[in-house]
Amino acid sequence: MSTTIRTRVAIVGAGPAGLILSQLLADAGIESVIVDSRSRAEIESTIRAGILEQGTVDLLRAIDPATRVDTVGHRHDGIELRFHGEGHRIDFPSLVGRSVWLYPQHEVLKDLLALRLGAGQDIRFGATVESVDDSNALHPAVVATDAQGEPLRIDADFVVGADGSRSVVRATVTGSRSGGYLREYPFAWFGILCEAPPSSQELIYSNSDQGFALISQRSPQVQRMYFQCDPDADAAAPSDAEIWDALQARVPGTTLHEGPIIQRDVLRFRSFVAHELRRDRVALVGDAAHTVPPTGAKGMNLAIADVVLLAEALRALLGEGDERLIDTYAERALDRTWKAQHFSWWMTSLLHTAPDAGDFDRRRQLGELRTVVESEAGRTYLAEAYTGWPQRVERISSITKAPTMESTPATTNSSRKFGPA
Ligand code: PHB
Repeated sequence: MSTTIRTRVAIVGAGPAGLILSQLLADAGIESVIVDSRSRAEIESTIRAGILEQGTVDLLRAIDPATRVDTVGHRHDGIELRFHGEGHRIDFPSLVGRSVWLYPQHEVLKDLLALRLGAGQDIRFGATVESVDDSNALHPAVVATDAQGEPLRIDADFVVGADGSRSVVRATVTGSRSGGYLREYPFAWFGILCEAPPSSQELIYSNSDQGFALISQRSPQVQRMYFQCDPDADAAAPSDAEIWDALQARVPGTTLHEGPIIQRDVLRFRSFVAHELRRDRVALVGDAAHTVPPTGAKGMNLAIADVVLLAEALRALLGEGDERLIDTYAERALDRTWKAQHFSWWMTSLLHTAPDAGDFDRRRQLGELRTVVESEAGRTYLAEAYTGWPQRVERISSITKAPTMESTPATTNSSRKFGPA
């Protein structure tokens, strides 16, 4: 039996971007339906990174009084860059007055799903989107198969592709599923989750003669660590002892707390920006629009920054018939995207060892690292980008409850409210 439903905004993807968009639209009385091919359990258990910029945390606190970012997440006031056997701390609050939070994406998703389902949001889990029918430019439709295998059509006034790097919606916007600017890298990350106490209270980004490593955390009992590997490496191949040796050799000066490895994976790197972010009444946000290598920890933050701009534009378009903000959505979103692309590429090239790097390259890289840590200007550049540039929201008045994402001082006060009184 085929079903046709009608809504104002059809959102493809129940990730952070899609869920936050539905909340910002609902705040303005604009109804939406979300579809996702995964089940709720799958969404809540997919382990992804989670460094949240100050502006992202301010937004989560403003839209969700029950967010656990301050209780389960941890505020980090700095990171360590380690090279040539020495650690150099970049202190965010003293440099830029902001911090970041380590709060893994699947925890963010648990909060947001509880928030939206609690508010009665229509989310169709297990529904596979096949295409977007944009034959009527003013009323695009999502064509899908629901969880029971029956045809599902969602007629809307606007369709948003928040469906990740393998976006189906992208083809409607760019004319092809891959159309965009692309850079690939000759290395990847070998990532592990292990049961052990933290080896460091803050993240260590280490550049060593053996290649890059990142020491991150998940909880007091579970840690996340990565080391540079070949993109074709087999995650199952090395023994646990070989993995610990590889990690330990890349963070000279720290003795890592070892423990059982409970997950291992190889993360390939890509920098990608779609040629177009909007066509008529179909737009892309987050990984559907762009992907970054994980070194700068920008992925989820960029997706959420897109959504703040798009929500504001959709409120103007669908609430007041004002097309000005939607007409400049792509340009404004790309402003931040390209800055984050540059930062992610720069952090990656600063810290990794390319397979063809020679002595000259190695010494030049150490010179670059010293340029960054030895001057306040260098440290400030890194801190500003890592904690996230303040967001320019053109029409703050159209966002009733959401923050402007302007720079706000580091705070753990979760009862803080934003927006006009
Ligand atoms: C992580 O904890 O998984 C993580 C942290 C920082 C990054 C990338 C990944 O830059």
